[in-house]
Amino acid sequence: MERLNGGNEYDLGRDFVASVRLDLQHYLWKETLRYDLHPRAGADSSSVGLRIADVGTGTGIFILSLARRLPPSCSFVGFDISDAQFPISESIPKNVSFRVANAMTEPPHDLQSQFDIVHLRLFVCVVENNDPLPALNFCLKLLMLRRAWWFFAMGRV
Ligand SMILES: C[S@@+](CC[C@H](N)C(=O)[O-])C[C@H]1O[C@@H](n2cnc3c(N)ncnc32)[C@H](O)[C@@H]1O
Repeated sequence: MERLNGGNEYDLGRDFVASVRLDLQHYLWKETLRYDLHPRAGADSSSVGLRIADVGTGTGIFILSLARRLPPSCSFVGFDISDAQFPISESIPKNVSFRVANAMTEPPHDLQSQFDIVHLRLFVCVVENNDPLPALNFCLKLLMLRRAWWFFAMGRV
């Protein structure tokens, strides 16, 4: 994909239409695949205390969808470089939070090694200089490497 301004600008926009597009895309994907998170991740109604991160979360539709079907002991953090598409605070469940963070840098210290599952989707258009390593490094540092963990990249990273 051709990037705007030498790769320094986010090409897809963050207005109302862009948010609706992301949400519809999520439901289309879910309908087609028959899952939101791959079943091998084992996140289901019997999961206790799972911590799940979503990097480049946009509207947060992915974690909000999971939060509806997983037990309330599970918790979710959505990371994005911009808060422009985060949901309004009144609509965010207690076990969901959002953080502004640049996934091309180090993750916030308090959230390193904290997650069982890290999810990254539709990020190919924001990878800089054709180099996904900084984003993969961000994701890896979020994972609790002492435990079994999952890293999911959907679409092309
Ligand atoms: C195509 S959207 C995908 C949103 C979401 N993953 C989904 O599947 O609905 C890409 C998202 O990445 C975010 N983004 C762009 N550059 C980023 C960066 N360096 N760090 C974190 N997020 C970034 C954008 O703000 C946007 O919300």
